Amino acid sequence: MEIIITKDYEELSETGAKIIIGTVKKNPYAVLGLATGTTPLGLYKRLIDDCKNNKTSYKHIRAVNLDEYKGLPKEHKQSYAYFMRKNLFDHIDIDLENTHIENGVAADEQSECERYDKILESMRQDIQLLGLGSNGHIAFNEPYTSFESTTHVVDLAESTIKDNARLFNDIEEVPKQAYTMGLKSIMGAKKILILASGANKAEAVYKLVRGEVTEAVPASILQNHADCTLIIDKEAAKLL
Ligand code: F6R
Repeated sequence: MEIIITKDYEELSETGAKIIIGTVKKNPYAVLGLATGTTPLGLYKRLIDDCKNNKTSYKHIRAVNLDEYKGLPKEHKQSYAYFMRKNLFDHIDIDLENTHIENGVAADEQSECERYDKILESMRQDIQLLGLGSNGHIAFNEPYTSFESTTHVVDLAESTIKDNARLFNDIEEVPKQAYTMGLKSIMGAKKILILASGANKAEAVYKLVRGEVTEAVPASILQNHADCTLIIDKEAAKLL
């Protein structure tokens, strides 16, 4: 695993953005695996600025997202589909038809997972962007998720519900379940780029880098990926 330690969040975002922009420039038809959450926001801002100022084009880029809350339609302001439009897709020249995410309000859970797995099988990610949960989750693969998992519905861990409550008016509004890309599909990406910022991620970063590869820490599976880059700021790196 390549580890890049930056002085702060701004440098982390800049470094990550350069890697994604490099992928897009090298292959204008690339498949980008994308994440939501607070961590990639600075990176997305830089992709938007670069698209505007340097005309990097996403016209033929395809995107697959990691996860979506179960029960939220794509128009819901807390849905991850909405997040992606607001924080990235609406500001770059990507064709929304080429962007994919689980349908939080699909009538049938099983068929929705199968539909998403088919999409993922037909579009191997050239690069998969990840954030890191404070409990070591990646996407919504909580501790003890099978390393062999594909798309599935998860019960969110209490700690994840608490972490995410800041984005809702009330903790009661945070959905208790979500669709998530599985660990096997994440590991299928040609390259993985994982970002972590802040002291509350330091313990998870330590376990990801130095800990045992175990289903108790989903992110530890990344030690087995042939091309994984971890970008962390000083605070997140403080236990290494
Ligand atoms: C988001 C996702 C989550 C987040 C993680 C970190 O699509 O899959 O695993 O990456 O919870 O979230 P932030 O970046 O908000 O700290």
